[in-house]
Formats: sequence, structure tokens, C-alpha cells
Amino acid sequence: MHEHLLSPVDIGGLRLRNRIAMAPMGVEIVGPDGMASDELTAYYEERSRGGAGLVITEVCAMAYPRGANSAHQLAISDDRFIPGLSRLTERVRAHGAAIAVQLVHHGKVSRLDIKEGREVLVPSIPDWHGSFDMVSDLTPNELTLMMAANGGGRPRYKAATRADIEELIVGFAKAAERAREAGFDGVEIHAAHGYLLSGFLSRQWNRRDDEYGGDIENRSRLLCQVIRGVKAATGPGFPVWCRLDAREYRTPDGITFDDTLVTAQMAVEAGADAIHLSAYGDMTSGPAFTEGTIPYREATHSALSGHLKTVVAVPVMAVGRISPDTGNEMIAHGKADIIAMGRQMLADPALARKLVAGRAKEIRPCINCYVCVAQPFFDRRVKCTVNPALGREMELGGFEGSMGHEPKTVVIVGGGPAGMEAARVAAGRGHRVTLFERSARLGGSLRFAALVYEPNRRLLDWMTDQMAVCGVEVHTSADPSPAEVAAMDPDAVIVATGARRASPGIPGIDMTHVFDGDDLRGLLTGEDIGRGSSKLSRIARFTVGVVRFLGFTQDPESVDRMSRRYMPIGRRVVVLGGGLVGIELADFLAERGRKVTVVGEGPTMAPEMAHPRRWRVLDDLRRTGVEFLTEAQVLKISDTSVTCRTTNGTVEIATDNVVVATGLEADHGVADGLSDAGLDTVVIGDAKGVGYLEGAIAEGFAAALALG
Ligand SMILES: Cc1cc2nc3c(=O)[nH]c(=O)nc-3n(C[C@H](O)[C@H](O)[C@H](O)COP(=O)(O)O)c2cc1C
Ligand code: SF4
Repeated sequence: MHEHLLSPVDIGGLRLRNRIAMAPMGVEIVGPDGMASDELTAYYEERSRGGAGLVITEVCAMAYPRGANSAHQLAISDDRFIPGLSRLTERVRAHGAAIAVQLVHHGKVSRLDIKEGREVLVPSIPDWHGSFDMVSDLTPNELTLMMAANGGGRPRYKAATRADIEELIVGFAKAAERAREAGFDGVEIHAAHGYLLSGFLSRQWNRRDDEYGGDIENRSRLLCQVIRGVKAATGPGFPVWCRLDAREYRTPDGITFDDTLVTAQMAVEAGADAIHLSAYGDMTSGPAFTEGTIPYREATHSALSGHLKTVVAVPVMAVGRISPDTGNEMIAHGKADIIAMGRQMLADPALARKLVAGRAKEIRPCINCYVCVAQPFFDRRVKCTVNPALGREMELGGFEGSMGHEPKTVVIVGGGPAGMEAARVAAGRGHRVTLFERSARLGGSLRFAALVYEPNRRLLDWMTDQMAVCGVEVHTSADPSPAEVAAMDPDAVIVATGARRASPGIPGIDMTHVFDGDDLRGLLTGEDIGRGSSKLSRIARFTVGVVRFLGFTQDPESVDRMSRRYMPIGRRVVVLGGGLVGIELADFLAERGRKVTVVGEGPTMAPEMAHPRRWRVLDDLRRTGVEFLTEAQVLKISDTSVTCRTTNGTVEIATDNVVVATGLEADHGVADGLSDAGLDTVVIGDAKGVGYLEGAIAEGFAAALALG
């Protein structure tokens, strides 16, 4: 099925066992000294054990601490870094992957230089212009954290002199020599993402009038000199390649794809053994970050990598939300030779191994939530919503560890994301797990989240399938009494019964055109139909009934399809609540042609979303005409409008329907009943405190680990 992706390939004489590369990712698992720690080594080792053909390290600072983005990134500027890096390469290579180090000078985003008061090396003094829209959708706390990450200081830029350029070329060459000595199989020169070498390539950031500025040939000169220097220093049989931006999004004078085609050919002439094609965007724009560097669209740059392949004779590595199926197709159709995967490798380190074993369905899906990549903005260690083991590989001992104690009998009440994660991990570690879910299907809050955001659907399917894979005994439509649970004589009882929705007590909230999220879910999925449908007209009730009878509302995909044709919701909708749920609902409704206004109490919409995803979603929603009212308090709901008090006075919004997405609170009911019956319980997820998907999965994981 994935025969193209899994076939071997050579880069500059280096044979890779398959064409899956782990994309370079700064995960900040390094101590504040640039040294490769044991924890970091275990993290990389896990991806090699997981079957990747090539592991590319995160950004490794060639002139550390100068030109570094963080003290928590790898360094290779001195021989003292070699022993740690040697241990790392040895452990990665032992599991069959090749490993390359990504060499970087961060140029204008050398946060460590800014923080420590050094000059910041750039091609020419930056002429900052851009949209600067990223700031407006950040929370005050995020802004404070970002400022703290560069010490709150102002950069002192220095345009690179001839001497600086000479030093850079020698520095890259020396770093590459150390890489070879440390056992790396090759190096990737980072000439993308706005860092120093990519700054030279971009007319926007390079205003020089010497032989390093002007036309694209001149702008590519430094990169080519670096490649030649590195090749000369490392000698034959050691592949060297560079990462380039296919283009700079939303940047008037930025790198174009035509530029990149020229640079790539020049790089190959200079000795590059492959080209790794990424992208970049206006650094002041939030949405641009999700178009270029960390794309939200699947396989965004695949056409460009295909085109690049027609002009260079070396392997082309493609990246950017490429799934195994798409990657396989791309290779089959000559659009790439190697597929680099970033977030998907954070979400499931064993991705390649599962493909080889024909178990693609078992790959834990990345849900494109941007939680991982939000962390480095704050100089914090990366974490993953769906994979709480990320960064804990050393402690857990690989692939989430194995069972340490006697198998226990575990009862889990509640089959939402927290309960399912607890069940998956506990059963995977060898415990006997029985899971009870009150409704007819597993998923809880994730079922609704899956309706409004497609990647959650894949996660829901994966979690549900995992119950069988791990041998969890599942009982749906089951609501055991405390006595029934006690009769099972469990060693542990985990309660994951989720949150409940409290009515916000606004005048008019009980009117028939006002739905809450549960009503809506009932209408769309057929669950709890009585409650939602009692608010419908007779015709709408009939339609919903027919749809339900025909079984169209049984799964999220059908609901998605059906709801695009018919939904018992008027043309204008006011969503009360500007949190994550409100914004996802607004997206769902707007996509179905509704004119939506979101009313939020706070200054920022969707503060619970990782900020890069928030940038993306809010930008999309604004473009589709969704309106946002921040710092607004709802005063009343009438038949035809919602009245709010805002900082600009009172506003009345005309509407046909109101959807309430506020008032989630932990539901202690089941936990209290079990405790009253004398059972020792561990309460997790939204039943303990509303923490959304990330919190739910993290708590399910932790509760299962605590069992031993
Ligand atoms: C947490 C994180 C850190 C990253 N750090 C780097 C980095 O150090 N160097 C780099 O070239 N790209 C970095 N990237 C970009 C990835 O290499 C990759 O190009 C991007 O994530 C798109 O691939 P994906 O959709 O498969 O995640 C990072 C991405 C993430 C998610
Ligand atoms: S945090 Fe979200 S985007 Fe990042 S790897 Fe995990 S699931 Fe994917």
C-alpha cells in the first residue's frame, strides 16, 4: 500500500531504508547549555526505533551562543559538544535510521543574542514592514511570555561585513566537520524560515549593494559558498543538502518560486546532494506562519516540489502536512523523492514501523492543533495534544513504556477522550480494563468536536479503534450503579464523565430559537433528540426525524455531509461564547452559509486555542464574514435579536437563532455517587475541571501511568 514511500533511496551515496524523514523540529529538550541531553537522545532514538529512514535534528547552532534562537537548542560551535552528539547519533543509528544535523544561524531572530545584549547579524538592517496582525489575536499573557523569551530587549542589528561573511563560511564548515566526527550521516544547511542564509536569499531582507545583494544569483552566493566550504571540510561520502523556502507568503519583496528554482540549481552546482523544500511567510503575520512554515493545508507545497524535481537532478525532499498516503502518491508521481514529516512524527513516533507492518490505521493522527509549535514561541519545551509521552521517552522507556507491576482490574466510567486515553494506556500496559459509556457511542465531547473540526474525526476513529486493539472491554449505553461497579471488585476506578453545561441565566435563554451545544449535537447526531427537537418547528422536526430514521446521522462524516444540505438553523446566528467551542461552532456554521456573530466576554477570541491555530481560524472566519464582539456582556435575548453591552455602548444584533457555547462546568455527579458508595476513585478530564482535549488526554494518560 505504501510501497513507494517505504522503498529505499540514496542521498549523495547514503542509503536510507525508506523515504520517510523526520523533519527538523526544535523541541527545546536541551538543557540551557546547547548540550545533547540523555532526554533528547531518547526522544530521537524513539523516532529511529519507530522506523523512520532519516532523522534530521532540530536547528543546531553553528556559532552558539551567537546566532542561536534559544539556550534550549542544540549547539555544535565547539568540540565540547561532540561527545553528547556522538551518543545521540550512536543511539539513533543503532535502530537503523540515518541521522543528519541541521546547521543554522538564526540571523534576525537570534533571540539569545537579543536576550544577552549581543549584536544580531543580518544581511542588511531590516526594513520592517508587514501586516503585524499576529499581535492583535494574542492574549496578554502570550505577549508577556513572548517578550520574556527574548528578555524584553530591543535587537541591535549588524549588517554582515566581509569579515563576518568569511567567519560564517568557516564556521559552517567547522560545524560540519564536527558533525562528521560526531557520527552524523550528513548535514542539512538551514537556508529557510527567515534565518540568516534565507535572509540573504530574500530581497525583502537583503538590501545589500555588493556581490551578495541584488539579483538572485548574487543573493544565492553566500549559501553556495557555505555549501562549498562544508563539502570541502567534510570530504566525499558525506551528503550535504540545504533547506530552502519555496516562497515567502504575504511578503511583497519576498522569495519567489522562480528565485528558488535558481537558488536550488546553484546549490546543486555548489555540491548540494539534495534540496529540502519548505516555505516561509511575513514574519509579522500570524496567518502567514500557518501558510508557509507550518502549513495548515495538506501537502501545500507538493506542486512546487514536483516542479523543482524537473530542474534538479538530486533528490527533492518535500514537507508540509503530508500524510503517508499522499506522500506515497507524490513519490509514485515524481513529485518528491523523500517525504519529511514533522508534527506527525511528534504525534506518533512509530509511524513508519506501523506502515511497514501494514497497520496504517493504527497511526495516531496529528490533529493540526498547533499546540506543539506554540511552545517554542515562549521558549518552552514542546508538547503534543494527542501524544502526552512526547519528551518523556527516557522516563517511560520507549513506545510509552511497559507495565511495571501486577495487572490490575480497572473500571473506567466515561468514554470520552480522557476515559478512552486512560483505557488505552492502562490496557496497553497489561491491566484488565472495562470501560462504561452512558451513551450509545464512544467519544463524549470529542464526538461534537469531531463534527465541527475534521481532524478530530480521525482522532475519534483512532481512539475508538484503539479500544479493540488494546483489548479494552467496552460497554456502551451502560450506566452502572455504584453497587454494580463495587461488585466488580476493581483495584482502581477512574471517572471521566466530562462536563455539563450550566445555563447562563440570561433573560430569553429558554426561548425556542436558542440552542446550546448539546441541543445542537442532538439535532445533528440524533442523540438526545427529544430535547433539541422540542425546540423545532413541526417541519424541521419531521426532517430531522426522517434523516435520523435513515441513519444518516450515525457518524460525523454523514452529519458533515447532511448538515451542508440541511440544518434546522436560520440564516443569521449569534454564538454566545468566544472560547474554543464557540469559535469551532462559528466555523462550522459559517461553512454552512450562516451569517455568524460571536459574542465573547474576554479581550481575545478562543484563548484556549494554541495561538498559531487561533491566527489561522480567526483569519479564515473574518474572511467568510464572521463578526466578533469582544468584551461584551449579553443583556437579553429576544425573538429576533441579542442585546449586549460592550465597551462602545449597547449593541443589538439581529438574529434568527442563538447558540450558547458558554457555561461548561465539571460534572461531579457520578464521581460523588461512587465515592459515597465507598469506592476509591480518580477523577480526570472535564469531570475534574474543564481542560478541553489536551487536558483530557493528558489526564487520561497520567491516570493510567499511575496504575503502575
Ligand atoms: C515544534 C516544531 C518545531 C520546528 N522546528 C524547526 C526547526 O528546528 N527547523 C526547521 O527547519 N523547521 C522546523 N519546524 C518546521 C518543520 O520542520 C516542518 O517543516 C513543518 O512542521 C511542516 O511539516 P509538518 O506539517 O509535517 O509538521 C518545526 C516545526 C514544529 C512543529
Ligand atoms: S500538538 Fe497538535 S499539531 Fe502538534 S503534533 Fe500534536 S496533534 Fe499535531
